[in-house]
Amino acid sequence: MLTREKITAIQHDSNVCADIVGFDFDRYDERDIKEVRKYWLQYGVIRFKHTRITDDQQVKFSRHFGEFVIHPKQLQEGGHPSHPEILVISNSMKDGKPSGAMGNSEATWHTDTWFYERPPAGAILRAIKVPPSGGDTYFLSTYIAYETLPVALKAAIDGRQIFFQNVYDKTGKIRLGKAEPISRDFREWSGVVHPLVRTHGETGRKALYLGGTSEGAWIVGMSIEESNAILAELWDHTTNGSDVFVQSWDEGDIMMWDNRCTMHRRDSFDPSFVRVMHRTTTSGERPI
Ligand SMILES: [Fe+2]
Repeated sequence: MLTREKITAIQHDSNVCADIVGFDFDRYDERDIKEVRKYWLQYGVIRFKHTRITDDQQVKFSRHFGEFVIHPKQLQEGGHPSHPEILVISNSMKDGKPSGAMGNSEATWHTDTWFYERPPAGAILRAIKVPPSGGDTYFLSTYIAYETLPVALKAAIDGRQIFFQNVYDKTGKIRLGKAEPISRDFREWSGVVHPLVRTHGETGRKALYLGGTSEGAWIVGMSIEESNAILAELWDHTTNGSDVFVQSWDEGDIMMWDNRCTMHRRDSFDPSFVRVMHRTTTSGERPI
């Protein structure tokens, strides 16, 4: 019989994240995974501080949370040499080319690959090498964003759907994004339509679903002007909420978030330092 520490979650001041304590990556069973899943669903974001695990262990652990999703960048600069399941996020250069995805720049608030028909549910991000400062990651809850909406705004979006433009082409290159003039007819664009308020497939809670940018997004059935005005209000409300968890990374830290009910962003950092992260991503349901 396995003797082990009891797995517990220590909540931060923020409601969005808890530290998981007592989970042993070298030795766990289905019951332990169930506990982790319970806390992941409860908080939306969980953290394992100062782990010392291998890429193999990360892949093995991640597999318990769904099928792997390959990010477009994994087909390009973010591929891992021996683990195709891992997206390498790095600003280091090798032979004059980026050895990983994303560089050192800021990433603004988003959920991962929101423009997929079935956006991923889980993201498991592990710090391999971190700069002495900068590159912090911020998390917020889109449950809370929805629940705290002003009544009139909530009514205005009730039952609405949102169109998201696909920002990558098949090879993983960003093709339109912000360069696309907003006045163009959205119906000609390739993309997906999702509910603007989605119901989480496992918890049943409602969450606001804004994707990753208001550029290339349109609330179906509204005029462009009205849609833009409401999206601006929704973004403002969501990203200026008071409950944000800030992760200042140490090597070995793992953040595991649920894209169905959270958003995240990243600070830029000094490009003279190398920052390397390994991410695994697991599948989610089509938003309903
Ligand atoms: Fe992301």
